Amino acid sequence: MSTDAIVLLKNDHKEIKRIFDAFEKAGDNAHAEKGRLVDRMIELLTVHTYIENEVMYPRVRELLPELEDDVLESYEEHHVADVLVMELVGMKPDAERFTAKTTVLIENVRHHIDEEEQDWFPQVRAGLGRKALQDIGVEMEAARKKAPRTPAQPSALKKTLDAVIS
Ligand SMILES: [Fe+2]
Ligand SMILES: [Fe+2]
Repeated sequence: MSTDAIVLLKNDHKEIKRIFDAFEKAGDNAHAEKGRLVDRMIELLTVHTYIENEVMYPRVRELLPELEDDVLESYEEHHVADVLVMELVGMKPDAERFTAKTTVLIENVRHHIDEEEQDWFPQVRAGLGRKALQDIGVEMEAARKKAPRTPAQPSALKKTLDAVIS
């Protein structure tokens, strides 16, 4: 299996987008199914955000300072998604705003994923090359093992606070 950081992140994106599509296809009254899909979405996003925030973004920022503005913008986009995720965690699937809030989360994350894949990853690949991306990938997979799976875990809360304060 490849350890190339960009390949690994794209695999995550694919899985996340698959859940988004399933949510959109679920019927208006499929509350139980939509609740399960949102739980899964939140788990995938929490892990993915953690490995990008903790490994991918800091490494790229350090190795390619010219991409710093993109990294900072990405932290902010993750932060907006985190806020929506935190609100969704406490919401029942049959609540009036549940589908609307999930839809806004999906729109935001899709936009962010498209920017990463279309603009940012190509610049990172050109700037870093194969070996550095493999090393970052190895580090990301190590971080994945200790990543929080729910936003309520302390490591996820710390991440959210870092985004607000720093
Ligand atoms: Fe991201
Ligand atoms: Fe991503």
